[in-house]
Amino acid sequence: MDFSEMKQLLLEYLLKEELISATISQPRTKSSDLKRVKLKPIKLKGSYHVQLEYQFERVLKHENIPLSLIGNHLNNLFEQFRQFQGEFISEKVHVQLSKKNKVLWKAEKTEKKTVNLAHNRKKNYLLDPEQPYPFLIRLGVQSPEGKVKKQKYDKFKQINRFIEFIHDSLDYLPKNRTIRILDFGSGKSYLTFALYHYLKVEQGLDIRVTGLDLKKEVIEECSKIAKDLQYGQLEFLVGDINNYNNETSVDMVVTLHACDVATDMALARAVKWGARVILSVPCCQHELNRQLQSTPLDIMLQHGIIKERFAALATDSIRAEILNLVGYDAQLLEFIDMEHTPKNILIRAYYTGKKPTIVQKARYNAFTEFLSAKPFLENELKEYLD
Ligand SMILES: C[S@@+](CC[C@H](N)C(=O)[O-])C[C@H]1O[C@@H](n2cnc3c(N)ncnc32)[C@H](O)[C@@H]1O
Repeated sequence: MDFSEMKQLLLEYLLKEELISATISQPRTKSSDLKRVKLKPIKLKGSYHVQLEYQFERVLKHENIPLSLIGNHLNNLFEQFRQFQGEFISEKVHVQLSKKNKVLWKAEKTEKKTVNLAHNRKKNYLLDPEQPYPFLIRLGVQSPEGKVKKQKYDKFKQINRFIEFIHDSLDYLPKNRTIRILDFGSGKSYLTFALYHYLKVEQGLDIRVTGLDLKKEVIEECSKIAKDLQYGQLEFLVGDINNYNNETSVDMVVTLHACDVATDMALARAVKWGARVILSVPCCQHELNRQLQSTPLDIMLQHGIIKERFAALATDSIRAEILNLVGYDAQLLEFIDMEHTPKNILIRAYYTGKKPTIVQKARYNAFTEFLSAKPFLENELKEYLD
């Protein structure tokens, strides 16, 4: 079999949709930054594609190719690599090419397998716990070999859960320009890196992300990691959410455990910038706890612990309601189960532009009056609420 017959034969396997998985490796030039490419079949919007996962020294990139274009890609790949290992429905194929493209072809019949076209085969995890991710290795969630460290499994779950929310928000993000994203109170920035990895590296979207935090050393460390990972569209800035006026328009705002009213500051800015998507997991809550006064609730509020929890729940309900009143569809969802952290409510809001009804406004006013609440967020968004 010669070089072009070999490529033709492999192409036929692909066109017959028999691919289970394959790896193309052994770069022809030793210095190549691209080490190998993995192939797997996936279904996108109902049509069969082959996903190419380009494994560079430090970064992974994905490209989904419709079958009509896969021949060109295969030719390209064999110009760069000399080895192919593939599993098809009932055959395993190993191809080794010499420098002059002499073909060594080995094929072995196997038991018949079924093709799995699910985008993510290990359900519940958009990140595969068996696969090394450069950003997770760098953040110490995975070992250098790419295994999730035992003591970091909760963090891994949390990152995955967050990525699920990002994934669900994709339809609300603009498609025809750079998507602008801000993470307020980004701290050690596990989620900022995860967000970048998912949207830029996995989905190939045109994004620009900024993480903002008060802590200079943490920001310096995150900037260094982003540089090392060659995450060119991810920056970290030292600053206070309340004084951050560098933007006129932002598409997505995220916050995770930004303390007390820092969450409200972030929400207010998101609304003013017309963010399409807001994902916010609040943290400790003191503001309403200080204000709460409601005689019919005294039986509850006389107990400090109940008052604190009630204040936190009421605060998040008020936040969601304010977002609903200013044109969002806001929901309170479980972020991660209670056993990991009690701070587990996520505010998810998508901009719809819907105007509130008089009844909705009256319901909000009655609730805040009943609690003697004067919410920071209400004050910040006064002009949007009238
Ligand atoms: C509990 S940490 C969470 C960090 C990160 N989002 C995470 O989940 O790993 C809260 C972060 O919010 C930052 N923060 C609090 N108030 C802030 C403000 N007004 N402006 C900027 N950052 C703030 C703190 O410095 C801290 O790093």
